[in-house]
Amino acid sequence: MTPPKILLLLLTTFLTSTTLTTRAALPGTWELLVANAGIASMHTAVTRFNTVVLLDRTNIGPSRKMLPKGHCRNDRADAVSKRDCYAHSVVFDPDTNQIRPLMILTDTWCSSGQFLPDGTLLQTGGDLDGFRKIRKFTPCEATSLCDWQELKDVELSEGRWYATNQILPDGSVIIIGGRAANSVEFFPPRHGGAVQFPFLEAMEDDQMDNLYPYLHLLPNGNLFVFANNKAVLYDYTKNDVVFEYPMLEGGPRNYPSAGSSAMLALAGDYSSATVVICGGAQYGAYIERSTDAPANGSCGRIVATQPDPVWEMEDMPFGRIMGDMVMLPTGEVLIINGAQAGTQGFEQASHPCLYPLLYRPDQPVGLRFMTLTPSTIPRLYHATANLLPDGRILIAGSNPHYFYKFNAEFPTELGIEAFSPEYLAVDRANLRPTLVELPETIRYGEAFDLLVTVTLPVVGIVEVNIASAPFATHSFSQGQRLVKLGVTSAIPDLDGRYRIGCSAPPNGNVAPPGYYMVFAVNQGVPSVARLYLQSVV
Ligand SMILES: *[C@@H]1O[C@H](CO)[C@@H](O)[C@H](O)[C@H]1NC(C)=O
Repeated sequence: MTPPKILLLLLTTFLTSTTLTTRAALPGTWELLVANAGIASMHTAVTRFNTVVLLDRTNIGPSRKMLPKGHCRNDRADAVSKRDCYAHSVVFDPDTNQIRPLMILTDTWCSSGQFLPDGTLLQTGGDLDGFRKIRKFTPCEATSLCDWQELKDVELSEGRWYATNQILPDGSVIIIGGRAANSVEFFPPRHGGAVQFPFLEAMEDDQMDNLYPYLHLLPNGNLFVFANNKAVLYDYTKNDVVFEYPMLEGGPRNYPSAGSSAMLALAGDYSSATVVICGGAQYGAYIERSTDAPANGSCGRIVATQPDPVWEMEDMPFGRIMGDMVMLPTGEVLIINGAQAGTQGFEQASHPCLYPLLYRPDQPVGLRFMTLTPSTIPRLYHATANLLPDGRILIAGSNPHYFYKFNAEFPTELGIEAFSPEYLAVDRANLRPTLVELPETIRYGEAFDLLVTVTLPVVGIVEVNIASAPFATHSFSQGQRLVKLGVTSAIPDLDGRYRIGCSAPPNGNVAPPGYYMVFAVNQGVPSVARLYLQSVV
């Protein structure tokens, strides 16, 4: 049923008002962490040292952060700066709000990435000299000086611009798609190079719409791959499409049509996985350069592991493109950033969507969305959102222009903000658990104990949920997943602590090896996460 037009109009009026009374009435708070990060982040990832890597393009001309003295990049192929002494990547420390410039050599424009099991960020592709590049960032303590490393002995089989990566159960990474690259390949390389993936070609239309495919590793070991308006279940071990999902109504959803997607928290016996896809541009907005075409506000939700699944449809309170879907430690999904009209691309969107939404998956259809406190800073094209271990959401970037442009309706945005969901409100502080003891490493299938303290006595189950740190770019978080562990009731000990018995994930299909943020969640309020390494079996 389509909502009556008049209602939509009223909502639009409401959603663009930013009066103080409205702001105070809604949940969540905003803080500006840094007014000038030096670069506008196109790609953002949180490392296991609780530092944040921000990345932009290299061929964008001067940023607002110089490289350390004596460090310049000489690149005759660079179209803008043959000699460039500016940073195009930085590392941010959320504990001190300090920024340190990093040195990246080749162009990372519209590239992809993923954390490897040892916590190293693998970063692949881009444009021009970065087209086939593979880079690594091995993170370090905030006070140390780690930097990017460009691999010289290995490169991608195909140039990849707008590809998606996903860590696999054996610790390797699959890299899917890209502009004029309807194929898949792996890191480390397999099969002697790329293998064709005809599904991506079939999903390409005259404005592309198959780029940055949505990729989710399901607990049955297959990949859910969504491009344009359709998904397949893909057995990457055999290069075989094992199932075709029905079409999702509401128009194209991938780049440049700018929806977003998340796999809901895996829980219970891990036999089931549900995927949600929300928002997207009107088909044609990209080729017609229509900045005012209203975005679609529909969300499709499908149980991807069911034999004959159907899309369950639901409308968000308003249309949205370029929203970022962030899995919160509670299993709820934050939808944040983006616009209400236009499409992805430079100068292609309007009507910023300043209101985040909370998607509550366990509520019935019609009650799942809650509108939250709006931001004051538009975050359009090339903006990101990432969960921090303390439960806040880091918001960076927005640059709808080809170069840095500050004198514009939607200027290049160098500020970093944090959004704090309602679970961080002071009136919930006495529910917030503190993790006091947990193992550094766990093995698949093993049982382990975790100790927490809480101010108020615990009533009910304290959840233990582990969150991956994804590579966020272009309104999709590559490799994002939340796994709820099996837990026993919290048992108080004599020292005022609670002991919780946990079961580690059964295998790498449920949780591929790597560092996860471990959250104890008491009545919807998460602890500060601690990071541990899950061993490869
Ligand atoms: C989304 O697009 C579909 C198809 O164009 C349309 O029927 C539907 O009303 C739209 N929904 C919203 C909420 O924008």
